[in-house]
Amino acid sequence: MSDAPLLSLRNVSISFGGVRAVHGVSLELRKGELVGLIGPNGAGKSTVLNLISGSVRPTEGDILFKGKSIVGLRPDVLSRIGISRTFQNIRLFPQMTAFENVALGIHGKPLYSFAESFVRTRRAWRAEAEVRERALSLLELVDLTRYAKERAGSLPYGLQRRLELARAMATGPELLLLDEPAAGMNEDECGSLVELIRRIHEESSYGMILIEHHMNVVMELCADSLIYVLNLGEILASGSPREVQADQRVIGAYLGAKRSANERRRRRIS
Ligand SMILES: Nc1ncnc2c1ncn2[C@@H]1O[C@H](COP(=O)(O)OP(=O)(O)OP(=O)(O)O)[C@@H](O)[C@H]1O
Ligand SMILES: [Mg+2]
Repeated sequence: MSDAPLLSLRNVSISFGGVRAVHGVSLELRKGELVGLIGPNGAGKSTVLNLISGSVRPTEGDILFKGKSIVGLRPDVLSRIGISRTFQNIRLFPQMTAFENVALGIHGKPLYSFAESFVRTRRAWRAEAEVRERALSLLELVDLTRYAKERAGSLPYGLQRRLELARAMATGPELLLLDEPAAGMNEDECGSLVELIRRIHEESSYGMILIEHHMNVVMELCADSLIYVLNLGEILASGSPREVQADQRVIGAYLGAKRSANERRRRRIS
């Protein structure tokens, strides 16, 4: 089915204990499309990415990648078939270098057999050279070439976020899921991240879902596309940046979330 959307979520739900983290969510993404996913804290945004990337399984509904159901497939299998992600809390190997973190992502796809890695056939050497070249070009893309030999854990936070992006791209995805790539960044860092994500989107054919709390980041990156707003596990609204920003239900959901966070804080203090 060549005209099938890259990704379809059909009425997907998941509960943890009594908590309905995601309820009846449906969305579609086409090849090369970038959509935003926003909503107050606890709305279920990360859980949607966890469902797509296979770390949790829906209790209801179906998830299709290129027209085929992927429900029940393990995260490593999904990564191999083209679904890759970054995490809200950075997940790198801090003791390994920036280069090694990216190369490891590429190695996830076997380029030569186990036996060949021992006898060092010409194919194995060539494959290693290819991995090296690709890892270096990904580091260059995220502007980290000069940090290739630095330990990932010693890099400033903003650069670790960029390294996570390179690591996610290393697996050769068709669908790239970004969970708050600008978290903890200052305004300048956000600006250059927007440029980077825009370049990645323009130069690749990745479908991308972007979760972000920095509204200027998501509004800029999704200027020509769709933003889904999640609240209490359900899609509250979807539309262009201008449409969702003017939507009274969206404004109400954010204000409501702020009010209840303030109330929780007041209760803790008194
Ligand atoms: N593995 C889990 N076990 C139990 N509860 C979970 C689990 N994952 C998520 N939840 C709950 O599901 C709800 C949605 O969480 P989720 O992390 O998806 O929200 P979010 O929109 O990403 O929030 P934030 O903006 O703070 O990152 C929350 O109430 C959360 O506590
Ligand atoms: Mg989250």
